[in-house]
Amino acid sequence: MAAPSTGGYEFAVIVPTYNEADNVERIIDGLDTALAGIRSEVIFVDDWSRDGTAERIGELAKGRSDIRVLRRFGRNGLASAVIEGMMATMAPVVAVIDGDGQHDERLLPRLFSMVRGGSADVAIGSRYCQNGSTGNWDSFRLKCSRAATNLSRLVLQSPVSDPMSGFFAVRRDKVEALLPRLSGRGFKILFDLLTSSPEPLRAVELPFEFRTRTAGESKLGAGVALDYLVTIADRLIRRYVPPRPVMFAIVGTLGLGVHLAVLKAALGWGGLSFGAAQTVAVLAAIAFNFLVNNSITFRDRRLKGLRMLAGLASFYAVCGLGALANIGTGVVLFAEHHGWWAAGVAGAAVGSVWNFAASMLVTWRR
Ligand code: GDD
Ligand code: MN
Repeated sequence: MAAPSTGGYEFAVIVPTYNEADNVERIIDGLDTALAGIRSEVIFVDDWSRDGTAERIGELAKGRSDIRVLRRFGRNGLASAVIEGMMATMAPVVAVIDGDGQHDERLLPRLFSMVRGGSADVAIGSRYCQNGSTGNWDSFRLKCSRAATNLSRLVLQSPVSDPMSGFFAVRRDKVEALLPRLSGRGFKILFDLLTSSPEPLRAVELPFEFRTRTAGESKLGAGVALDYLVTIADRLIRRYVPPRPVMFAIVGTLGLGVHLAVLKAALGWGGLSFGAAQTVAVLAAIAFNFLVNNSITFRDRRLKGLRMLAGLASFYAVCGLGALANIGTGVVLFAEHHGWWAAGVAGAAVGSVWNFAASMLVTWRR
């Protein structure tokens, strides 16, 4: 079999842009110089800039097949722009560099060769390793960046000084393998890659000095910061919450506690008959199970709004059938002269497995 086509390129540099019309000429010039001698292509991913960024690139790249612009409709975010750029090339090594000139493109050949040579899965341009620098940031930006970097240690597996860097090279097959796990949210694509990998990525860092923006303005705002916190929370949940069936079982056990508490309240303060109180308790326990499973066990398929009501209804139906399966199994086994407790446990097991499988296929279906 022939080797997979790389389109002839051994390296692709992805440049995300949003309103960078006044910067792209300098970027292209810088990349032309830096990448001389490497069979490489440059892919701009532009999010519907309103200042003519894509048109400007089009003029500058006229007649060249090694520069492309992917245009997207709406502003979909830096991380997803980078992912789309990486998916649009067949080159085995890909890199990202900002489109505003703040990253030092002269580092690219070294980042490239460290990844191609196999000494690392990812080679990072770092502002925080020895000899790196954030340039002349104001103290507020510096504090925020340091705080975000420290917070990242909670979930990071590789010892990396600058996991927030937007400047790195990586093996494309590594990115491809991680695609289904990436959040694609916000700004932090490197952080996303590092924290999504089941086994730690082999990372190396090279220092550079973050330059000052000379044209246009930064897009990093409160929304980006919030996205980042959500990503951290998501990673922590992924790490500490057990896989689905185990989580489902834990929730079910907690649900038994809810059942008994509601039963006691309905009998005592509510003054209901046992039958009525037991019914209320069952309905409450199922609703509890539904809510917790919806927000944790099946958080990746979480139902919202009206779909949540429909989901609750279907979960009642699933659990109702589960109870029938439970009772049926118990009755049959007991009739076959198995012990009362064995028949009871087997019934409960059948009912639980049914509840898990059926709710996954119906209530939280894909
Ligand atoms: N396609 C696309 N879509 N590009 C975007 C978007 C977007 O929604 N938002 C920003 N960009 C582009 C910008 O045009 C620029 O080329 C690059 O992404 C970086 O954006 P800036 O707004 O200049 O970010 P910054 O300089 O504040 O942040 C830099 O440092 C951060 C760490 O402190 C970037 O390198 C970040 O990646 C990095 O995390
Ligand atoms: Mn910038």
